[in-house]
Amino acid sequence: MTAPRPPVLPVVQFRSRAGSIDLGWGHPHPAALPVDAWAEATRSALRRHGAAALTYGHAAGPGPLIEWLCERLGEVDAVPPEPGQVFVSAGASHALDLVAAVLCRPGDVVLVDSPTYHLALRVIADHRVDTVPAPADEDGIDPAATGDLIRAITRQGRRVAMLYLVPTFNNPTGRSLPAERRAALLAMAASTGVTVVEDDTYRELAYPAPAPPSLFSAAEPGTVVRIGSFAKSVAPGLRLGWLTGARSTVGAVTERGYVDSGGGVNHASALTMAEFAAGGAYRRHVAAIRVRYRRQRDALVAAVREELPQAEFGLPGGGWFLWLRLPHPHAGTALLPYAQAAGVGYVPGRKFFVADTGHRHLRLSYSMCDPETLAEAVRRLAGAYRAAGFPARSTPLPS
Ligand SMILES: Cc1ncc(COP(=O)(O)O)c(C=O)c1O
Repeated sequence: MTAPRPPVLPVVQFRSRAGSIDLGWGHPHPAALPVDAWAEATRSALRRHGAAALTYGHAAGPGPLIEWLCERLGEVDAVPPEPGQVFVSAGASHALDLVAAVLCRPGDVVLVDSPTYHLALRVIADHRVDTVPAPADEDGIDPAATGDLIRAITRQGRRVAMLYLVPTFNNPTGRSLPAERRAALLAMAASTGVTVVEDDTYRELAYPAPAPPSLFSAAEPGTVVRIGSFAKSVAPGLRLGWLTGARSTVGAVTERGYVDSGGGVNHASALTMAEFAAGGAYRRHVAAIRVRYRRQRDALVAAVREELPQAEFGLPGGGWFLWLRLPHPHAGTALLPYAQAAGVGYVPGRKFFVADTGHRHLRLSYSMCDPETLAEAVRRLAGAYRAAGFPARSTPLPS
């Protein structure tokens, strides 16, 4: 028998450069991926469902996963969805793409939080809409000013198709929208008729749990579509997520030609996830990764306080990211080549804005590295900061 050839084409999205520590990517820690438990769940799903696990699936997703998801969201959120309000997607990115496909027409306006998940901006732009930043401050979206903006855009004869935000453990800031703003945002959405698309990808990664109640759980029916993912809570390679919304939205998504033609998406992974959940592995896994990522967050925070006291930040209550504000107005952008030369990577703040702003910020991810590696990364970053000649002490400057 001949030995299998090593792969020539790439296998994964990201591989770190030798000697470099990359705090740019929001990927899981390799040791936090449940390889053995997933193998067991796969065997168990095949034993339980036989051929039904490998044929075309139900278009909205397999019943066992939808039923369990409703139960789980009842535990980690204020109100569970009903089964008819759930669609199983190939990840949150796919759910966002589907929602945009059913809500947007070319030339529409889509409002987005600032800063917000940079790759969502690309998914939204694929739908040939104008992406416009909603007014926001340190606490997140300003509902009253956003309502004014929607009315002004509508008066110009344009349609605002949706408003996208990550209100719970935002990527990149780690912050959550305060309760009073959540209520005001929902009232504004109900009065303007604009659908809120709530990206709830980090709900399970709360330190400590519980995360704040979702917008979906408090909204009038039909006002909010919420998207979620198993990418952070279990594994991104599964390409598995979900959306919860009005039955009409779920129906429109389910009737998309390729969903109908394909018998749902990722049927076999979805059934395996149901098995992973039913056997208790999901619950154990999430409990363990909460401890892990909280420890990694604390290590990064301690290192930044020690090595880079010029940086200001709020303590993230969940998720994978620390959002730093540096004293010099262009430090987040200008520091990058110095950081790379020192062997550390990050994402410059500018990437998370539609407008040309955010240059004093940067995002560090604490998900992929052990505490010791995070500490070393910050030592390198602080060395790069000194090498770049930025101010040694924080001076208040306008943003
Ligand atoms: C806020 C947010 N939404 C969506 C995603 C992508 O999720 P998925 O891998 O399920 O497509 C990410 C990943 O970084 C994210 O941070």
